[in-house]
Amino acid sequence: MSVLQGARLVVGVTGGIAAYKAADLVSKLTQAGALVDVVLTARAQEFVTPLTFATLSQRPVWTDLWEPTGTAAARHIELAAEAQLVLVAPATANTIAKLAHGMADDMLTAIALATAAPLVIAPAMETHMLAHPATQANLALLRERGAHIVPSEEGRLASGMLGAGRLPETATLLGAARMVLGARGNLAGRHVVVTAGGTQEAIDPVRYIGNRSSGRQGFAIAEAARDRGAAVTLIAGATELATPYGVTRVDAPTAQAMRDAVFAACAGADVLVMSAAVADFTPETVAEQKIKKRAVAGGDGAGLVLRLKRTPDILGEMHAAADQFPGLIRVGFAAETQQLREAGLEKLTRKGLDLVVANDVSQPGSGFGSMTNTVTLFYKDGRVADLANMAKSEVAERIWDAVAEMLAQHEREKTRKDSARAGVKGSTSDEQSRWH
Ligand SMILES: Cc1cc2nc3c(=O)[nH]c(=O)nc-3n(C[C@H](O)[C@H](O)[C@H](O)COP(=O)(O)O)c2cc1C
Repeated sequence: MSVLQGARLVVGVTGGIAAYKAADLVSKLTQAGALVDVVLTARAQEFVTPLTFATLSQRPVWTDLWEPTGTAAARHIELAAEAQLVLVAPATANTIAKLAHGMADDMLTAIALATAAPLVIAPAMETHMLAHPATQANLALLRERGAHIVPSEEGRLASGMLGAGRLPETATLLGAARMVLGARGNLAGRHVVVTAGGTQEAIDPVRYIGNRSSGRQGFAIAEAARDRGAAVTLIAGATELATPYGVTRVDAPTAQAMRDAVFAACAGADVLVMSAAVADFTPETVAEQKIKKRAVAGGDGAGLVLRLKRTPDILGEMHAAADQFPGLIRVGFAAETQQLREAGLEKLTRKGLDLVVANDVSQPGSGFGSMTNTVTLFYKDGRVADLANMAKSEVAERIWDAVAEMLAQHEREKTRKDSARAGVKGSTSDEQSRWH
């Protein structure tokens, strides 16, 4: 289940030109299952109306702490207590200054001061306002106190100027909200490495051998890990997908580059999920110049023969080098078009994996390019779980449920061993004290 499902959020919208973009944000948060209480500053209402947000969030919108019925006055403390996250997007320089200095002269700043929930701030303003030492000092102060600042982006501003200060895209703001909400999840303090996408093996400077992997499943796995508090390194092959917020991306377009990136990233990591579709074969030689039709032996009529060699078997090499990566949980994927069970089980044992996620990529609604997947999980301990067809984001959650259970098991074993060792040590010192 997504971290946003059922989450209680206060979204504060302030009086900047990007306020209209907050409508999309509130819509997407609500669609993701969050309960969003929107608070508009007085100046925000010069740009957008409460009715827009009330309709999108399907909840009352708060604008005036001082309205005479006293409902808002009472609700602001309740909202502060109920909120799991307060997200201010866009945040004006003015509201940032008020938040930094503990001012509470409207509904939004009063809630921000009264809540124990984490605060996420997305500044959006003209470049000079953002760069001003006052704004920068205020942001630094808020960061120091634990607020999460979503960096504004460079681009075209409402003034027509190009520069820093743009409100990031909705997807980025959603990512930040999800990351902060999940910061204390069951992967908190863990470092996980996820590979995603297909590889491209060069034939010549313009051609390659590739595959149909979109990277969607792997990216969803990376996002889901982030949403459970993990530090995530995402090793991406060929994919069009944007880097998820808060995830460290390493581009590795070929099988060899991916092998090297995996070995480098896994030092000290807790989990490796190899969901990339890595080429098994690569051209024996890469032509330095574009191969011309006429230059191929036999001329135009004859085909081109490519000799291929094996690429590194990344999970096989990781298995052989297991001593270098103590405690690393290794998860492999098996994308098959037939005999899924045999292939999944065979991969599990041959590569010494903890979990294999197998899917029949020839089935509709499964595998490459699709938004959904139907997978079977093969556990090291012999358990097999056939999952129904579900969104790739949901498959990602199931994988992390399984891995979190393994990490907890490792933790229990470690504690047992540590206490057994301490017990032995204890009895030795008891014996020693008896003898001396
Ligand atoms: C047309 C217009 C656009 C503005 N855009 C921004 C903006 O993008 N960012 C910002 O920090 N202030 C912007 N301001 C200034 C704020 O509206 C002003 O500082 C206001 O006091 C903010 O109030 P609030 O923080 O309570 O919403 C803009 C003002 C106007 C008139």
